[in-house]
Amino acid sequence: EPEIITDKNQMRKWSRAIRSQGMTIGLVPTMGYLHEGHLSLINESHKRANVTVVSIYVNPGQFSPSEDLSTYPSDFHGDLLKLMALPGGVDVVFHPRDLYDYKTTTTSSNVNKDIIDEKGGRVVSCVEERGAGHETWVRVEKFEKGLCGKSRPVFFRGVATVVAKLFNIVDPDFAFFGKKDYQQLRIVQRMTRDLDFAVEVIGSEIKRDSDGLALSSRNVHLSPEEREKALSINRSLFRAKSTIEKGQVNCKELRDSVIQAISEAGGKIDYAEIVDQESLEAVEEIKSPVVFCIAAWFGKVRLIDNMEINV
Ligand code: PAJ
Repeated sequence: EPEIITDKNQMRKWSRAIRSQGMTIGLVPTMGYLHEGHLSLINESHKRANVTVVSIYVNPGQFSPSEDLSTYPSDFHGDLLKLMALPGGVDVVFHPRDLYDYKTTTTSSNVNKDIIDEKGGRVVSCVEERGAGHETWVRVEKFEKGLCGKSRPVFFRGVATVVAKLFNIVDPDFAFFGKKDYQQLRIVQRMTRDLDFAVEVIGSEIKRDSDGLALSSRNVHLSPEEREKALSINRSLFRAKSTIEKGQVNCKELRDSVIQAISEAGGKIDYAEIVDQESLEAVEEIKSPVVFCIAAWFGKVRLIDNMEINV
């Protein structure tokens, strides 16, 4: 059975004790409602680290007030059962009630509103809206702007900040992130490098359902019809990959055909971009390893998926 730790000082104490015994720690950060994608990250941690910590925390810092924080699915008891059934289990589940300080209240006049959305509106996260006494944000400036950053301007600032907090509290040797959230993985890697966190950030392959849909906690919100339509994302990504392997290098043509396929299926495209795997900069002609990244809405659910293509 995993030890459940809810207090950050307790978590720090546990980590220090483990480290003083010369053992290495693997951290798998999650927002819970665990599925095989999360479990595959834990499996990677078993291969590398002596002990594994899974954090389960729905981070209000990465949601804006108009997003789905209140409907984000959770099932802590179910998550524990899945972790207990996992070969090798996990050593600790870090499940803080809140990682932000709510003792001081912020008034609207001193809330940090320096983030502007596409329409020129100012945006805050749920942490600021709730008046938390939190002022410090980590921003990976170049990487946070494109792809998901366009429609979710506070998202990556919130992710980078909570991951920095988790790295400081858990002090892991290794941390595991899925390539499902490709931009997130690159942002965490760059933050780790730029701020000298002594942790190796490891990216892990995307886990898919048998029909090809990338596993996501948000998939529970899809109706059966929406789910069927959503398969247009992974199908068009696989098709693009084989078209590229047959010699297509023109990104505009590749993007247009994916946009058409998803739109015809009834999805509303947020973006469909072909970017460099390292810099995440848009590419016009494929000459080096790229990743084809897609975000699209099906009903009220926004899904993301991507495919690495190495030429
Ligand atoms: P969450 O969406 O719960 O995902 C936790 C980790 O699981 C992330 O690294 C994500 O990339 C990975 N993951 C999700 N679906 C996957 C799939 N189908 N295959 C492989 N890996 C998958 O991502 C977050 O939480 C948060 O932003 C977090 C990093 C915890 C910060 O709050």
